[in-house]
Amino acid sequence: MQTSTNPPRHTPSRSELQPAPNVADAVPLSLIVNGAEHALNVEPWTSLLDLLREQLHLFGTKKGCDHGQCGACTVLVNGTRINACLALALVHDGAHITTIEGLAQGQNLHPVQQAFVDHDAFQCGYCTPGQICSAIGLLAEGHAQSRDDVREQMSGNLCRCGAYVNIADAVESLRCAQMQTRQPQQPSRPDTEEDAR
Ligand code: FES
Ligand code: FES
Repeated sequence: MQTSTNPPRHTPSRSELQPAPNVADAVPLSLIVNGAEHALNVEPWTSLLDLLREQLHLFGTKKGCDHGQCGACTVLVNGTRINACLALALVHDGAHITTIEGLAQGQNLHPVQQAFVDHDAFQCGYCTPGQICSAIGLLAEGHAQSRDDVREQMSGNLCRCGAYVNIADAVESLRCAQMQTRQPQQPSRPDTEEDAR
């Protein structure tokens, strides 16, 4: 009887699966990332996430699943939150991209960053850049009317450490503050006829 002579299965590494950049395939792309303009050459299949991390070396945006399942790669494109792993960089030619690196003003944290610190809304921090960018997008959208809405509308951002309660606290505190500043001022009602005159 013949024994199997199959060689051990070889699992190709990522670098083997992705051919080295071929200049002939590269196309020009212009992006404004965190306020700085970049003229780039990218292969048409390059994701925005890979471009940010591998060409611009902005490693704050994390690669979790690379399949649109975890939200770790969330960035803002023209102010709207998206999963950068699902976005082809070329599609966003000319866009303004904001990553976690572009939020603080010098030593001053962005209010959402500060809220995450104040509410202890992270543990290992791996999901945090995506959570913060997603929260900024959520607050700009203005659709969340309650803490439950915040939980629902942040549900695309997973946290393996399970810091969900504190993340919701952080975002909810900002949503409430936002609601108060947007509250239309009620005209004061005259108490007496004399006041009304
Ligand atoms: S890395 Fe993009 S959603 Fe997980
Ligand atoms: S803080 Fe660790 S994954 Fe969210």
